[in-house]
Amino acid sequence: MCGIFGYTGTKKTAANRVLKGLKTLEYRGYDSWGVAVVSDQKTESRKADKEILVEKQVGKIGNSVLKSDILNLKSNTGIGHTRWATHGGVTDTNAHPHLSCDSSLAIVHNGIVENFQKLKKGLNKSHNFKSDTDTEVIVHLIEDEMKNKGFSEAVRSTFNKLDGLNAIAALSSSGEIVVAKNGSPIVLGVGSGEYFLSSDATAIIPHTKKVIFLEDGQFAILNKKGISVYSLASGKKVKTEVQILDWKAVESTTGKFPHFMIKEIFEQPKVLRNAIISLEKPAIDMAASIKEARGTFFIASGTAFHACLAGTYLFSKIAHHHVNTAVASEFNYLEDFLTKQSLIIALSQSGETIDVVEPLNRAAKKGAKIAAVVNSLGSTIYRMGSIKVLLGAGPEIAVASTKAYVAKVAFLMLVTYALIGRIEEAKKLLIKSAKEIERLLRKENISEIKKIAKTLAKSEHIYTIGRGVSYPTALESALKMKEVSYIHTEGLAGGELKHGAIALISKGTPCIVYAPDDETFESIISNATEIKSRGGLIIGVGPKNSESFDHWVPVKDVGEASLIPMVVPAQLLAYFLALGKGWDPDKPRNLAKSVTVK
Ligand code: G6P
Repeated sequence: MCGIFGYTGTKKTAANRVLKGLKTLEYRGYDSWGVAVVSDQKTESRKADKEILVEKQVGKIGNSVLKSDILNLKSNTGIGHTRWATHGGVTDTNAHPHLSCDSSLAIVHNGIVENFQKLKKGLNKSHNFKSDTDTEVIVHLIEDEMKNKGFSEAVRSTFNKLDGLNAIAALSSSGEIVVAKNGSPIVLGVGSGEYFLSSDATAIIPHTKKVIFLEDGQFAILNKKGISVYSLASGKKVKTEVQILDWKAVESTTGKFPHFMIKEIFEQPKVLRNAIISLEKPAIDMAASIKEARGTFFIASGTAFHACLAGTYLFSKIAHHHVNTAVASEFNYLEDFLTKQSLIIALSQSGETIDVVEPLNRAAKKGAKIAAVVNSLGSTIYRMGSIKVLLGAGPEIAVASTKAYVAKVAFLMLVTYALIGRIEEAKKLLIKSAKEIERLLRKENISEIKKIAKTLAKSEHIYTIGRGVSYPTALESALKMKEVSYIHTEGLAGGELKHGAIALISKGTPCIVYAPDDETFESIISNATEIKSRGGLIIGVGPKNSESFDHWVPVKDVGEASLIPMVVPAQLLAYFLALGKGWDPDKPRNLAKSVTVK
């Protein structure tokens, strides 16, 4: 999490450029933000020739503007940060950049310095710490090291002392930036007479398409002369490849919609139609790799994990093929049996989730084959895959994932049918799903969902249940609702309810019941009746009404693809619940779109 951006070049508008870059990276963290620039202007209050000036603010960067005069200062070099707090509360003092005691150095950081307390103890007592962060220790350590080393060497030896998965950008009042990385992503941009660093390429693309992906164990110096990359271990220069990214700069706006979340929900039919075209060949190739492998494992986090789980059911039922599925952060403890013949299919919207990256690194060391199924071109996971699949859902900005989920399920549906040589059937089902989502998004149907959202708004708890392939739908629906409405929502397998959670059902407790027209219908209706008998309020989702339902959200049957439109009512419910409660559905508290810390 956290977004880092930096600029050095001939244009004297560093503060503005850094601010703009940070706005693109806001999805990575939005507790607070800050910008540091090297001023080359001498003014009454600033006697030094060159010094670092910082402005920090608490809150989302959104439409914020710089309030101090750093915006108007002529400056060629600056760095900035948008924060997702790990160590130290959300205050402007704890926001990055952090300064050295003499203000000649500034630092921004993504990650956690696991040994920061030990490092802090070892520092000379004369250092004046202002924040409660782990990050600040880095800048004081560099300051100490600079007593007998040059700037870049001081950064290198400091970075080598840090434990954990970290990326830093250090700014010196000399106008030089040094970045180092071990874990969190850093992309460098090579413009003409100007150079950039960023946590991801999207913030660089508006300036240049020439990029260098800094690898773990490397550091780079950015100054007037350009960019040079070195090994953190040896300090020696390393050869790097400048890649030309064939991406369009996507200035994502909400367009006619008030929020990205609702815009992205509405984009889902288009995502499905694109998938049929762009994911057909990757699905056929993936099916071939699965057949070749001895043991296939799906790993992912959050919403992406729910897509994997759905894939497991589809593979079993339709293709009669077994795959193993694990929450990525748990895969570290389940991978002892991996071999060179194993295939790991990692699903990730951002392509940066550290909980996915870590087990992939370990699996790669064991020689397992890695397939990356991501939505973000050039991301860490994308680059790790020997098989690379781009979901092509377009930029997903809202933190709560909607269209990327649908794209992942669509891809897995195509792979399922490709495994049995019937991919055309999957394509037809995806078209039907797109049409059904369009119907669900009609004004009159949205009004019905809004009414249900009003009913649910005062609930303390909501339960969602499903069986078979609707179980992942129940889990995903619960996740959507809890992350943006902050109402405790729990998704359960229909049969599991009576093994515990039923104790929590009392008069009026809402339960969303997924009842597709498949082999699970009778059993899930029985579960609904069990809840209703205890006073629960049943919201049934599916093609057939039932006496057990207090409210019915009709979703037409689209055969084996029914799980795709079935998730949409809950996405909408989540959105309207958030609005009703006055929350920002795009940036839920405590969450971030790209999670690069463990
Ligand atoms: C975060 C996001 C979730 C997302 C999960 C996995 O927790 O808030 O929406 O599902 O990360 O992200 P990924 O980018 O790997 O799909």
